[in-house]
Amino acid sequence: MAWRGVTAERRGRSSTWRQRLLAAVQQRLHQVMPPDPWLEPWLPQLQAHSAGLPVLEIGCGSGDDTAALAAAGLPVVAFDLSPEAVAAARQRVPQARIGCQDLRDAFPLGSGAAGAVVASLSLHYFPWDETEALAARIHAVLRPGGLLLCRFNSTEDTHFGAHGHPAIEDNFYDVRGERKRFFDAAAIDRLFARGWQRLSTRHAVTRKYGLPKALWEVALLRDGSPVAEGEAPR
Ligand SMILES: C[S@@+](CC[C@H](N)C(=O)[O-])C[C@H]1O[C@@H](n2cnc3c(N)ncnc32)[C@H](O)[C@@H]1O
Repeated sequence: MAWRGVTAERRGRSSTWRQRLLAAVQQRLHQVMPPDPWLEPWLPQLQAHSAGLPVLEIGCGSGDDTAALAAAGLPVVAFDLSPEAVAAARQRVPQARIGCQDLRDAFPLGSGAAGAVVASLSLHYFPWDETEALAARIHAVLRPGGLLLCRFNSTEDTHFGAHGHPAIEDNFYDVRGERKRFFDAAAIDRLFARGWQRLSTRHAVTRKYGLPKALWEVALLRDGSPVAEGEAPR
């Protein structure tokens, strides 16, 4: 939770070999796999709710969703921990502002400055208290009425580590050296219990990583009450 305001690049903190491998795989997959069009149905809502403010994309990887958002004419501010993924995303979506940083550091937009937040499969690397703090920070960066679209590993995501690995916490495992959380419906409910209006929760399967990957797709609106950064919404 430390290092606020200092980017991973400036501090010299880099991605792990697993993240570098994931970035390379993502880059290759987006060349050979059909695109994962999950954002398409949400583009009108993104346009409406962002109200001209930028969309903040958290953990953009090599830019699949960044490209979809930018192609729809939305201004995008995105970031990822992996320098390799960021380089690929910058090359692919030059019109987006894409930084290299840890999501536990200060976001590149201030309080209330994002019209929407997109976080696809990037919020699952942390202990529960950090995950809740992250949800509160996303709440704070959104304007009141702003839209959050996020996807989470499901507890049914058996191809990507949901079972058979040493547990750190409930549904939070050491998956061959990488910490990964898997969410059930109750965890989604807990995470967004206060401060949000839920638009939809959908259990789905994506094939963007080759094997079927079970996930939750959640859409929420930030409610109207301001919440200080670091404070859980009530
Ligand atoms: C499963 S990938 C998803 C990438 C992208 N959102 C997509 O759906 O194509 C997870 C991404 O989260 C990034 N990530 C992991 N830990 C992070 C952290 N602490 N801060 C920022 N990004 C992180 C990884 O580098 C990776 O690109």
